[in-house]
Amino acid sequence: MSRIVFVNGAFVPEDEAKISIFDRGFLMADAVYEVTSVLDGKLCDFAGHVARLHRSLGELGMPSPVNDDELLAIHRELVARNGIEEGVVYLQVTRGAHDRDFAWPEGLKPSLVLFTQARQIVTSPTAAKGLRVISIDDLRWGRRDIKTVQLLYPSLAKMEAKRRGADDAWMVMDGKVTEGTSNNAYIVTRDGTIVTRNLSNDILHGITRASVLRLASDAQMKIEERPFSIAEAQAATEAFSTAASSFVMPVVEIDGVAIGDGSPGPVARRLREIYIETARAQAV
Ligand code: PDD
Repeated sequence: MSRIVFVNGAFVPEDEAKISIFDRGFLMADAVYEVTSVLDGKLCDFAGHVARLHRSLGELGMPSPVNDDELLAIHRELVARNGIEEGVVYLQVTRGAHDRDFAWPEGLKPSLVLFTQARQIVTSPTAAKGLRVISIDDLRWGRRDIKTVQLLYPSLAKMEAKRRGADDAWMVMDGKVTEGTSNNAYIVTRDGTIVTRNLSNDILHGITRASVLRLASDAQMKIEERPFSIAEAQAATEAFSTAASSFVMPVVEIDGVAIGDGSPGPVARRLREIYIETARAQAV
């Protein structure tokens, strides 16, 4: 079945969607994006994704192509037109099209593209098994807090993980884990404290991260926001990652070393359950 996608004001079949070859998103990765999960045909953590989109646009001096009400309406219509009960909506805003030049003129019209992906996120078989990750140097640029489409390095890292028989890579800078290729990274220490890197320009400010930390704190769990090393992660009782596309995902092995007993741990399983329950209840 061909999807209906959204391109610059129109809902069209995916094979009829067109973007200029001069679009700066294509030529320069001059674009930002968001991925919002869908449960029961509704959008999870939507306000957070819209807020982060505005932040990304603001940091790059890009105007928003539509207002927030229109953004919600487009998301909803796309979900409805494609009959998505569970999955994600991908949104991308680019600076617009202009003849190739490093400098761009003022007043470019931004492009807006959205499409859906049907996906089993709640009953993902990987969540039951847990992820095996490798560590890899973090060679990305210094503004990882902006959700740009410059995803070549994380893609290469993911391919390297697959080549080595693992599922994902955790990136390391100055001896400390920054984040996964497309998720935030956590460990649980022997005294039950959840540790995840503090927010800065070094990592993406995950919307799922914010929700999960709020839920963990509501459940009286102890949280420390600080960098941790691969050695500390390997000695932890649990590890996990979070992202809109996977929610809370247990990590059971890092660089070939089993974490805890090598199966998804109770903290990750509980947070996954609470997150899904809350996201479902608050979806719009
Ligand atoms: N990725 N860190 C990175 C580098 C990411 O790309 C993502 C999300 C996250 C988690 O952010 P959030 O909880 O807001 O999804 C952290 C999306 C899902 C993607 O690129 O598909």
